[in-house]
Amino acid sequence: MQRTLSIVKPDGVARGVIGEVVKRLEANDLKVLAMKMIHMTKAQAEGFYAVHRERPFFHSLTDFMSSGPVVVMVLEGENAIPRYRELMGATDFKAAAEGTIRRDFATDIEKNIVHGSDSAETAAIEIGYFFNAFEINPR
Ligand code: CMP
Repeated sequence: MQRTLSIVKPDGVARGVIGEVVKRLEANDLKVLAMKMIHMTKAQAEGFYAVHRERPFFHSLTDFMSSGPVVVMVLEGENAIPRYRELMGATDFKAAAEGTIRRDFATDIEKNIVHGSDSAETAAIEIGYFFNAFEINPR
């Protein structure tokens, strides 16, 4: 069993696909153990994406991620990390497989609807960034 962090980004919230994303997660045996809507400050977005701080897109990415509310979730399931990444599709929606969330809804390499942790180590850090133990409901 693995846990992973999912974010429906500001573009996904604005386009009204929160429910569509959650539907796909649940249909694929990824259980939602925690969920909340938050509007990050620029500093909070910078903290979340700190590993990307040297990248040319860092400023734009953190502006975007703090531009509106996001929905953050903790997901659990067997091989949840790779399975959720498969459902999301490639970062660049143009390279994402048919039927993936990004292929179906993303409009831009940056505005790509969802985020998912890329490893177990990252997932633990990312989950801890948004949730404390009392907010995560094992079931
Ligand atoms: P995410 O999976 O949240 O991880 C880092 C984010 O940076 C990524 O999704 C995109 O939103 C963004 N990103 C990655 N590569 C690029 C790029 N080449 N140009 C702009 N944004 C990018």
